[in-house]
Amino acid sequence: MTQLTERRSLLPLLAAHPGGRSAATCRYRCGDACSQPVPNTSDNAYFGDVVTAAVQRRSLLQAGAAATGAVALAWGTARPAAAGPGRGRPGIAGFSPIPPTPADVDELVVPEGYKWAPVISWGDPIDPGAPAFDVDRQSVEAQRRQAGYNADYLTLRRGGARGNAANRGLIAFNNEYTNPESMFPDWSGSPTPEQAMIEMAAHGMTIVEVSRRNPFSPWRYDVAGRRNRRIHAHTPFAVDGPAAGSALLRTAADPRGRTVLGTLNNCAGGDTPWGTILSGEENFNQYFDADGADDPDGALARYGITSGGRGWEQADDRFRVADHPNEVHRFGWIVEVDPDDPRSTPVKHTALGRFKHEGATIRLADDGRAVAYMGDDERFDYIYKFVSRERYRKGDKRHNMRLLSEGDLYVARFTGDGFEDGEFDGSGEWLPLLVDGRSHVPGMSVEEVCVHTRLAADLVGPTKMDRPEDVQPNPHTGQVYVALTNNTRRTPGQTDEANPRANNKFGHVIQWTEAGDDAAALTFRWRIVLIAGNPDDPSTYFSGYDRSQVSPISCPDNVAFDGHPDHLWIATDGAPGTIGTCDGMFLMPTAGPEKGKVQQFLSVPTGAECCGPVVSWDERSVLVSVQHPGEGGVPSGYPYLGDPVPRPGVAHVYRGKR
Ligand code: FEO
Ligand code: CA
Ligand code: CA
Ligand code: CA
Repeated sequence: MTQLTERRSLLPLLAAHPGGRSAATCRYRCGDACSQPVPNTSDNAYFGDVVTAAVQRRSLLQAGAAATGAVALAWGTARPAAAGPGRGRPGIAGFSPIPPTPADVDELVVPEGYKWAPVISWGDPIDPGAPAFDVDRQSVEAQRRQAGYNADYLTLRRGGARGNAANRGLIAFNNEYTNPESMFPDWSGSPTPEQAMIEMAAHGMTIVEVSRRNPFSPWRYDVAGRRNRRIHAHTPFAVDGPAAGSALLRTAADPRGRTVLGTLNNCAGGDTPWGTILSGEENFNQYFDADGADDPDGALARYGITSGGRGWEQADDRFRVADHPNEVHRFGWIVEVDPDDPRSTPVKHTALGRFKHEGATIRLADDGRAVAYMGDDERFDYIYKFVSRERYRKGDKRHNMRLLSEGDLYVARFTGDGFEDGEFDGSGEWLPLLVDGRSHVPGMSVEEVCVHTRLAADLVGPTKMDRPEDVQPNPHTGQVYVALTNNTRRTPGQTDEANPRANNKFGHVIQWTEAGDDAAALTFRWRIVLIAGNPDDPSTYFSGYDRSQVSPISCPDNVAFDGHPDHLWIATDGAPGTIGTCDGMFLMPTAGPEKGKVQQFLSVPTGAECCGPVVSWDERSVLVSVQHPGEGGVPSGYPYLGDPVPRPGVAHVYRGKR
């Protein structure tokens, strides 16, 4: 650990950035988004100004928000928490919540009676011929056959060729980005061409088969699994949908505009009912250097593509926008992967639009069309929905894998109904961008709407949200939840009923119900169910639950459901810089006597964000991604196997036999 401490003490990226993330996180994950100007400069109205102006100003701003930068509401039943809930009593879910973990604790903390074990970590070999992890002997060839870096979205698929579905399966996880300052002992501040290529090989996705002895034992990965696969920044992807082959996607290396090498910054994702995996290409802008590039229509600025990338252009010329202006159009998509066929070509779906895709989750409409919900994770950006043209056919995977190739694309407008009713709620509409193969955006072609989706959405008046992350339908109820992680740039004059807090450091969660409970509906009703933060902050709201009884929570990022219809699980990314605790994973019941009672289930090690939880609550089993442990601050030894650098990866929390 001494060696690690000395190495880390030289890091130049220790200062905190606005928005609660460490500087290293800002630089490597989102390309310093919180230090850049807000990319959305469109003047579509804030609904706080238009619809609920009088109420908003009286109830929220004059109540102290202007002075504190936060909404100051006196919620009926709430009492300020004392020093936090402490180690709580078991709630309906049966675990005793853990107390908040101070941000410098290098430990994966789980509730009493639970154990945890790493399943797979960065650098673990995924085929029998691949070398074991060795921080001093990294190579491109090795990394392409080892687990990728920074695990984010995670899924568990039961079953497989060898049967025994309960105890066999596969896990797939995104490898969102790399922390070169942690990866390379000889890191100098910018990558050598070899280091840049290793970083590219560590991006993408990792798929490995897993098994366990019985439901009480930990999942372990199989180094020789038949479906094991690495997808990285040079894996060929097919492009489909309306923009495939368009002039906007053609490059010197791909004059047909139909094959892209690689996927980048894959953040969250979703499982489809037909057995494939969706993954969102999020902060792809940071890999491109736009020095000297023209930006006649403002598209580069709107997507935050600026001068100075991660230095990858030194190793791969396609990342230099001035020389290859269309390469950047080939990232920012939802990609679909068939994990059962390791030789299949993954697909980039242009019909789902191009933006900083957090992820995509599917719900079937009443008539069987596939509906994809999607967030664009940027301050003041939007929530989208895609509705397929064709209908899902049970058992016809070949047909279903074309569902996301053609359909209608919408963007959300949230309208508040005023605060007189004591709720942040109202109605919503899905505003059309593409319908029946035609553009609904004045002056923009179908291809332009697909590729420059942010510019298109700006023209139809959607609601500017506080960084929309995961959008997740509850599979049991159909209600949809979106995590809005934070937005410290929102001023009191820019608040609206759906984004009611100025300087929103801690984020919130909105729930909506589509009209007629049909996922394809074009209108919905919405309400805020969580306004996160330290519960002694009067601007927090936990669906009306007594604030003195809940766990502090900040910066909701991933949301997930388990087999219980009322179990909403929330994973966070940003607690260390906002409420001074490690990030973690929380249960928030959505109904019943504990509705709104946020209870912390686990915390991830110092510097890490908590991602992609997969909860099998009938087994008391949770798979979780531990992303960037030790980033930007206190060193981490995760997963505590004696390596000199932290190794992000997937952990299994399980109950064991009683
Ligand atoms: Fe990669 Fe939106 O967090
Ligand atoms: Ca209201
Ligand atoms: Ca995320
Ligand atoms: Ca995140």
